[in-house]
Amino acid sequence: MNFPVTRMRRLRRTEAIRSLVRETHLRPESLIYPLFICPGEGVRKEIGSMPGVFNLSVDEAVKEAHECAELGLGGLLLFGLPAEKDEQGTGAWASDGIVQTALRVFKSESKLKPLTMIADVCLCEYTSHGHCGIVARDGDHYEIENDSSIQLIAKAAASLAAAGADIVAPSDMMDGRIDAIRHALDEGGHAMTPIMSYASKFASAFYGPFREAADSAPAFGDRRSYQMDGANLREAMREIEQDVVEGADMILMKPAMPYLDVIRAARERVDLPLGAYQVSGEYSMLHAAFQRGWLEPERAMMESLLSIRRAGADFIVTYFAKDAGRVLG
Ligand code: PBG
Repeated sequence: MNFPVTRMRRLRRTEAIRSLVRETHLRPESLIYPLFICPGEGVRKEIGSMPGVFNLSVDEAVKEAHECAELGLGGLLLFGLPAEKDEQGTGAWASDGIVQTALRVFKSESKLKPLTMIADVCLCEYTSHGHCGIVARDGDHYEIENDSSIQLIAKAAASLAAAGADIVAPSDMMDGRIDAIRHALDEGGHAMTPIMSYASKFASAFYGPFREAADSAPAFGDRRSYQMDGANLREAMREIEQDVVEGADMILMKPAMPYLDVIRAARERVDLPLGAYQVSGEYSMLHAAFQRGWLEPERAMMESLLSIRRAGADFIVTYFAKDAGRVLG
């Protein structure tokens, strides 16, 4: 009888051994939960395509934030649904803007201290046309202007920092915005506010449910003239390198699951803290399978998050953050 010398199964025999040799770990403090903040009071409106995720008025968002703090999550990523929108997206930098208001309330609650408050910086939720920048029209032709947009995006970042954001996270994909934001922050007295750049953001079908949640679908055209082509890994590396040069402190990549190879490549190239955003469509897709009883919810959720960590993400923005926090807690 010839026995195998190497038996990989020896180290899989008990949960104790398996956990001893486990290479990748999930921790609640490396999970970030997105919140969609809307006007009003007592509003808790579930997003049809995202079970368990809500549009929340500030008072309800505070309750949600307390739950996240109790679960030991790392932070919140804040999005705003303004009462009114216009061509320029002025609500994005209004000192009484929806996210600015929420930030002041969050910052006045001592029990929320352990949560890092990250403000998403973009114009698309605030513009009437739903694009992430200024639209210049010429007859039938239109263009999303770069250089005028980054001035407004920088203004929004400074306004969010002034309202108490611990980190600002630009998600617009305009060129030069990290540099513009860094200058605006420094000039506004926020030299110590870090920038988490959505450095490689692909034009993805997986943002569909978010656009329902944030009411931010473009009214015409699409985002392919600023978000990246899903076929391009090398271009993603150039985007990241450029943002590092401009002064990004942390990098965020999205989507996550369909782009694990890009996350891995980025991990091998940059030493900045690196996060990945498991976006709305990734969450909806899994939930659709859970609803049909086709996947085991807890195991599939944890496996999906682990795959993103294993690809190289230090932290994960995910709509599963609370559920995973409960499993880990
Ligand atoms: C805004 C923004 C989007 C997401 C995060 N910030 C949408 C988009 O670019 O259309 C998507 C997040 C998600 O799908 O969960 N620029």
